[in-house]
Amino acid sequence: MNKQISSTPAHESSIVPLDILILAAGLGTRMRSRTAKVLHKLGGRPLIAHACHTATALSPRRIYVVVGHQAEMVEQSVREEPSMSENAVSFIKQEEQRGTGDAVSAARRELQDANSTLLILSGDVPLVRAETLGALVHQHRTHRGHGAACTILTVRLEDPTGYGRIIRDEENRFLKIVEQKDATPEERQVNEINAGIYCFETRALFPALAQVEPLNAQGEYYLTDVPGILRAEGEDVGIYLHADAREVSGINTRVELAEFEAIVRRRTVRRLMLDGGVTFIDPSHTYVDTEAQIGRDTIIHPDVHVEGNSVIGDDCEIHAGTRITNSRIGSGVTIKDHCVIVDSEIADGCAVGPFAHLRMNAQMDERAVIGNFVEMKKSRLGRGSKSMHLTYLGDATIGDKTNIGAGTITCNYDGVNKHATIIEDNVKIGSDTMLVAPVRVGKNSVTAAGSVVTKDVPPNTLVAGVPAQVKKQLTNQESEKQESEVRSQKSE
Ligand code: UD1
Ligand code: CA
Repeated sequence: MNKQISSTPAHESSIVPLDILILAAGLGTRMRSRTAKVLHKLGGRPLIAHACHTATALSPRRIYVVVGHQAEMVEQSVREEPSMSENAVSFIKQEEQRGTGDAVSAARRELQDANSTLLILSGDVPLVRAETLGALVHQHRTHRGHGAACTILTVRLEDPTGYGRIIRDEENRFLKIVEQKDATPEERQVNEINAGIYCFETRALFPALAQVEPLNAQGEYYLTDVPGILRAEGEDVGIYLHADAREVSGINTRVELAEFEAIVRRRTVRRLMLDGGVTFIDPSHTYVDTEAQIGRDTIIHPDVHVEGNSVIGDDCEIHAGTRITNSRIGSGVTIKDHCVIVDSEIADGCAVGPFAHLRMNAQMDERAVIGNFVEMKKSRLGRGSKSMHLTYLGDATIGDKTNIGAGTITCNYDGVNKHATIIEDNVKIGSDTMLVAPVRVGKNSVTAAGSVVTKDVPPNTLVAGVPAQVKKQLTNQESEKQESEVRSQKSE
């Protein structure tokens, strides 16, 4: 679903390849977090993944990511971003965070001889569109017919506080960038700001970068000094003034993160309604991660969370307060209120809840039913089988058309190891049965209410008691009849 944006103008032969450098080494002090800013999540994905995803849409020759704080985790987040898989990516370690100029210098060895157009992005700007970046690159390469040495993406802000200001000369051409902390009161009046997104010709960038010194209020190497140096040397520095300030703004605080989260959430839900044919009873109180997929005519009630790469089929109804994480739900499934479904799979026509918990690869086959206060872990419930009330199914494999009575527990843990329970097809497990694993209940068998099953039950057998003893062999008809007898002792 990666839109390919052409960033190459018609006279292709004369232009150099496009590389992209993403700055992501900073901690992000204003987040007041122990976690690096680019690892904070937006729409369920780390900020750095958003920046990388957008970068891939420009089909660059190579993407470079400058990492520092929690470098390993940032690298992992980049590698886990699905769109990165077909893209060439290199990581560059900035050992000490001495400013954005220093961050770019860290890539000197890899890039100084690259002879490329280098698009520089920040890892904390997640909403910028590939179309906008493509237009920036295009303007940069066609500037005055021959291309610029540098082009800066700028926006005008009502309140430019905190940003680097764009200072223009009398002819309204670029002169320099002045950071907030170094700006005179007059310069602070300027409301055109540097968005932190630039194009450079690498042949011009690195010689100018070598001249940058940390002689400023923050004692940092500013990348923002480079365009001024290039201009002073007579190079062409262009400005790409963009209209949508929101789109290119970075996240610096958790307040901004929450604002962006609301924007992303609205977009996702809107896309699912307009393109996906999904009904949201209350869109502003529904939380769907950007990667999640939901099918047509599915109805999502308030306070539902659909997280990670979950997939929900057509014609489902997901009731209030349910969380679905990294799970696959088939079509025609009803999930009643307040269920938690994590890393699990539910086939077509199933029903779940209310108050059910499925986790660690719980699997329900077609038309299986899980009722209230049932927990399923690493277990499979066969086609048309039911477990309606107050039950724990752990490490259990349950066949088709089997009924698990209220209060059944698979005693799967002996304090050291977990053991498996196997219940075959057409079994009736009576209410309050304890299945002490490892144990197998053969097909068509019945356990009476309150049985503690410690030994395997052969097929077509009724067991009862503590510990459960064989009471009789069952013919097929008896198995049916027995069911009705047992039913009088068990709740449905
Ligand atoms: C920067 C610009 C400012 C611009 C603003 C736009 C500079 C000096 N200032 O300020 O003109 O208006 O972005 O949002 O560039 N980083 C590193 N290593 C470092 C320092 C930063 O990798 O040593 C990374 C950060 O992780 C971040 C990006 O560079 O992704 C920007 O750094 P940040 O500290 O947020 O810059 P601002 O102060 O916002
Ligand atoms: Ca920033």
